[in-house]
Amino acid sequence: MQMRYLFVLIVLLLLLNSCSARKRRKRGEKNAGKRNSEKKVDVSNPADYIWAKHTVAAGDTAVLHCSFDAMYPTYYAYKSIDWTKEPHEKSGKGKLLATGDKMVYDNNNRYRVFTPSGTALSVLIIRRAKKSDSGLFRCNLSDSGHRHKYLLLNVTDSSIEAQTSPDEVKGYVGENVTLWCNATGYPRPMIYWTRENSHDKLPDGTYQHWGNSLQVSNTKKTDGGSYLCYVDNFVQPIMSYVFKLKILNKETKAKFEAEMFRYDSPKLYVGENMKHAPPPVRGRAYILVYKMYMEDYNPNMKIHMTWFKENKKLKRYSKRFMILDYTKSSKPYRAESTLIIRTFDNIDNGNYICHFQTENLSNWQVFKMHKKPIDPNPPFGPTPSPTPKVELVKTKMPKTEKLYSMDDEDFADESSGHN
Ligand SMILES: *[C@@H]1O[C@H](CO)[C@@H](O)[C@H](O)[C@H]1NC(C)=O
Ligand SMILES: *[C@@H]1O[C@H](CO)[C@@H](O)[C@H](O)[C@H]1NC(C)=O
Ligand SMILES: *[C@@H]1O[C@H](CO)[C@@H](O)[C@H](O)[C@H]1NC(C)=O
Ligand SMILES: *[C@@H]1O[C@H](CO)[C@@H](O)[C@H](O)[C@H]1NC(C)=O
Ligand SMILES: *[C@@H]1O[C@H](CO)[C@@H](O)[C@H](O)[C@H]1NC(C)=O
Repeated sequence: MQMRYLFVLIVLLLLLNSCSARKRRKRGEKNAGKRNSEKKVDVSNPADYIWAKHTVAAGDTAVLHCSFDAMYPTYYAYKSIDWTKEPHEKSGKGKLLATGDKMVYDNNNRYRVFTPSGTALSVLIIRRAKKSDSGLFRCNLSDSGHRHKYLLLNVTDSSIEAQTSPDEVKGYVGENVTLWCNATGYPRPMIYWTRENSHDKLPDGTYQHWGNSLQVSNTKKTDGGSYLCYVDNFVQPIMSYVFKLKILNKETKAKFEAEMFRYDSPKLYVGENMKHAPPPVRGRAYILVYKMYMEDYNPNMKIHMTWFKENKKLKRYSKRFMILDYTKSSKPYRAESTLIIRTFDNIDNGNYICHFQTENLSNWQVFKMHKKPIDPNPPFGPTPSPTPKVELVKTKMPKTEKLYSMDDEDFADESSGHN
């Protein structure tokens, strides 16, 4: 009797056991999934379990991809992938974003999921990313809780910092001028240039130039004008900067030189050294020269060279003075004017000024003649009278020529330069 009851009990127990075991097995899978889904990840401490980390700038497109293809390609190829956004707080609830190719969460059409068929690959695309999209994303094979990956998305602020050339840039004809538009930031900005009117060509013949600098080589007057540089990080509105390029004539870059010398010496006293020039000899010549050099010039340029003594304009020929002008119309352009104080005497002391004037430039030099004239030494004969006769001066002309023979080229040109 007891044995029968015992047998029935054992059978019942066995039945119960197998039943619950089957149930347990079933529930087991579910629980495994549940356990995983409830396992909270500390977002602030992204550790080894992060499979991929993406950083995008706010406004940019974030592309998260998840793939299980590599493991058992044929087996997984027919499974779909789900996407979940993990909660920010440990106690929070995850948000299901997509299952397979179906978007569950659609934030203003910004979230898209892309799943090529026949693959265990899923791409989650978040357009115009916001800072609130940052966080931990999880993808899992749809029927397997333990096959999953975590992806961390970091949406950062975008920024552009630009350091540019000044608004107005000047250059000279024939020079190379570079405009700078140095911009950095995140995402890295692209920089391109156009004329202010984008239908006008850039100096290199194109309409658009990419890069942080725009070099204008061998500038021409027509290169002057407004240029724009655009800074685009594809996230923020495009920033632009205007530059005014002014191309000046080289003429304004003339070099000037002043020199003086005494009739009896080949020694020239140039610029600052003029103050060390020897004193004039009474009755003999003293010569003042003002020169201008230009690398390039406009052939139509007319230069006026004028001499003054104490602000009174001098005649080209007179009893006391002779002015010789010389110009050389080839490269480098050269112009010079020579004042010969023919027979120096006390009355010739004072300030002499030579003034050069063209359409676009004006320059002058003051020559200070304040040293008391000395008397000539015997080889030069007796002191001429303080007011020499014109005839006497004429006979002295060869002497002046001799002085100019120091520079033969000057001398040859000079006779034709007489006017
Ligand atoms: C994996 O995807 C399935 C199907 O969407 C889902 O039911 C399950 O909860 C997911 N697994 C985990 C661990 O989240
Ligand atoms: C996000 O990216 C920014 C900029 O690269 C970085 O400073 C910050 O530490 C990143 N945050 C995380 C959580 O990775
Ligand atoms: C821009 O950067 C270049 C180097 O790439 C530098 O030579 C130039 O001086 C910079 N210009 C400005 C305006 O910062
Ligand atoms: C100007 O640039 C050109 C090439 O762009 C170069 O050949 C030339 O040497 C440069 N001239 C100067 C003065 O730097
Ligand atoms: C003087 O400058 C003006 C304007 O820049 C220019 O048009 C003109 O050709 C220049 N004159 C000479 C002689 O170079």
